[in-house]
Amino acid sequence: MNPCKPFNKNTGQIIGLMSGTSLDGLDIALVEISGNGLQTAFTLKAFRTSPYSSQIQRFILDCAAPARGSTACVSQLNFFLANVWSEAVLEFLENNHLKPGAVDFIGSHGQTVYHQPAPSDFAGRPTASTLQVGDPAVLAKKTGIPVVGNFRDGDMALGGEGAPLVPYVDYLLLRSEEKNRAILNLGGIANVTVIPRKARKEEVFAFDTGPGNMVMDALARDRFHRRYDENGAIAGKGRVHETLLRRLLEEPYFRQLPPKSTGRKLFGETFVQRLLRQQEKLKVPDEDLMATAAQLTVLSIVNAAKEWIEPKVSIDEWIVSGGGAHNPVLLEGLAQHLEPARVLLSEEYGLPVDAKEAIAFAVLANEMMNHNPANLPSVTGAERETILGTLSFP
Ligand SMILES: Nc1ncnc2c1ncn2[C@@H]1O[C@H](COP(=O)(O)OP(=O)(O)O)[C@@H](O)[C@H]1O
Ligand SMILES: [Mg+2]
Repeated sequence: MNPCKPFNKNTGQIIGLMSGTSLDGLDIALVEISGNGLQTAFTLKAFRTSPYSSQIQRFILDCAAPARGSTACVSQLNFFLANVWSEAVLEFLENNHLKPGAVDFIGSHGQTVYHQPAPSDFAGRPTASTLQVGDPAVLAKKTGIPVVGNFRDGDMALGGEGAPLVPYVDYLLLRSEEKNRAILNLGGIANVTVIPRKARKEEVFAFDTGPGNMVMDALARDRFHRRYDENGAIAGKGRVHETLLRRLLEEPYFRQLPPKSTGRKLFGETFVQRLLRQQEKLKVPDEDLMATAAQLTVLSIVNAAKEWIEPKVSIDEWIVSGGGAHNPVLLEGLAQHLEPARVLLSEEYGLPVDAKEAIAFAVLANEMMNHNPANLPSVTGAERETILGTLSFP
């Protein structure tokens, strides 16, 4: 493979890896991709989420916590995760009767441990930065497969938020001549890509609406000793506490103008601690708290749609993916408020809800290997389009 020349095979076997803010595990998608850019076509060959133990989850949370993380911790985590992922990839290949040599390359998002898209003063200089760990060089050496990683840095270097990046892939795979579409991913954070029908690339816009499952997951851990509210069973039993909900919706992020992106820093531990204090003050039963958190996710999306999307584009279809797509409380809430638009799952378009983001990073790696710019300045705010990612050899 000559890195200075575009990848010149028309069809590649590519692995996409995604480890999102939910810390539920590593998503591994093996995708056959033919063509690139607007001609991209894909077939998902195999998929698996390799779950994280509670111990790994705790390590990552501790390393990423603003007050507790240390450079030693982040450095160790960078190698540790790359090793864990390498083993997971090799096991995945074995289970699918494939040798590493059958895979052309891997696209790995990495695990975000820090994301500061708005420049803040640092040593007298306004600085924005983002850090995804799970070292691509280690991953490449240990798997024997070339790895494209560090997708976000280039966009941020050009003044962009470095996120979200999936909207470009949404544009490649889900644009429509007839329908105005909103593509909604319910991961730890929820984000939406708006693609008006017949849109040119520059007309796509996207942003993070706020929490997806993140607040609910924290409550499930803290109040019910579960990893998440499976199938919305807890939220389904509770009642929304309107006063509390109103207060939660006062969070300034919800009123901030897009483009915008967010993460655990805003909707993680500190947010949830505040929420638990409010619960005590207002004497809200645990189930009602979960129902309220679910409604926070629903209404932050619905309000964003009313404020920033509908005035520009009347959406025909909301295409939902991510782990939150398994939660009927979220889906029913969305369907009810977004009517008359149709709310449907991404699998209707060949993208299983759990695999979509990992598939997206396989596609982004394919774009990098073909030297195609893959950021959308209209989405990230970067000053120009640019090729994303760095390549590590085995
Ligand atoms: N059966 C289910 N019922 C409700 N929620 C679920 C279910 N399966 C997964 N989830 C939610 O999805 C989350 C994982 O979603 P994912 O798309 O992987 O997010 P991320 O990209 O942040 O890792 C879990 O933490 C959980 O909140
Ligand atoms: Mg996940």
